[in-house]
Amino acid sequence: MKATVHRKAHFNAAHRLFIKEWTDEKNFEVFGKCSNPHYHGHNYDLTVSVCGDVDPKTGFVINLKRLKDVIYEDVELPFDHKNLNIEVPEFKDRNPTAENIAIVIWNKLREKLRDDLELTVTLYESQRNFVTYRGE
Ligand code: NI
Repeated sequence: MKATVHRKAHFNAAHRLFIKEWTDEKNFEVFGKCSNPHYHGHNYDLTVSVCGDVDPKTGFVINLKRLKDVIYEDVELPFDHKNLNIEVPEFKDRNPTAENIAIVIWNKLREKLRDDLELTVTLYESQRNFVTYRGE
């Protein structure tokens, strides 16, 4: 029997979306307010979903305490109250869009989970804008 376990987390972070080679005008055209050269913040909401067989003995797909700790170590600690462009090495040469943030989070968490567990990351940049990544 398979089940999906979800864990929610939250972090605040600043970012700027831009392409180095473009002018501020061109960046503003494509990225809008998210291209403000002085950066701006978002309240990111994260849902990490882990799907797998329910262990007949423990009744768990994954120990939620362990999942909580992994999310804290790999996402909240390095991202919360940070400037993603400047302080998080993964975004040094990668635009910190919600898509790319979800991919970076997925890659970090994937390494910490058993191979037979399916991982989905859902990242809300605002209440209405969110992205799902499954490693495809
Ligand atoms: Ni933004």
